[in-house]
Amino acid sequence: MRILIANDHGAVERSREVLAWLRTQGHEVRDLGVATETRVDYPDKALEATTEFLKGGWDLGILLCGTGIGISIAANKVRGIRCALVHDKFTAEMARAHNNANFIALGGRTELPCPLGDILATFLDTAFEGGRHSERLAKIAAMEPPAS
Ligand code: RB5
Repeated sequence: MRILIANDHGAVERSREVLAWLRTQGHEVRDLGVATETRVDYPDKALEATTEFLKGGWDLGILLCGTGIGISIAANKVRGIRCALVHDKFTAEMARAHNNANFIALGGRTELPCPLGDILATFLDTAFEGGRHSERLAKIAAMEPPAS
């Protein structure tokens, strides 16, 4: 898969772990950073990554901040983005099966209940179920403001 990744200063180490795992699995990854703990505002990283994603050619985006919360809120302001904050294998599975997320967000300062790779693999290996879930996603899309 072709995957974009971006993080703020609150998730430098976990972002490195995500990158390393994706590369060992053979995914093509573009890292939009950051690699240091110098302050960077998570809305800026969310906008950078989602703007690149919407140019096309990407299968998934992964965003990280201290909690994953702020950067997921910011990403979900962008038309066409469905960013799911995932904490464990269950939320990773549902993010794909029910929400067909095109971005996932992870925390850099949160405790994971299982290996990070298990969470990522669960998301990547799960299929969208469609059906009633497509109807719900259409309702979410209808809530977006008109394109300017
Ligand atoms: C940055 O200190 C922190 O607020 C940010 O990484 C994130 O946790 C926000 O939701």
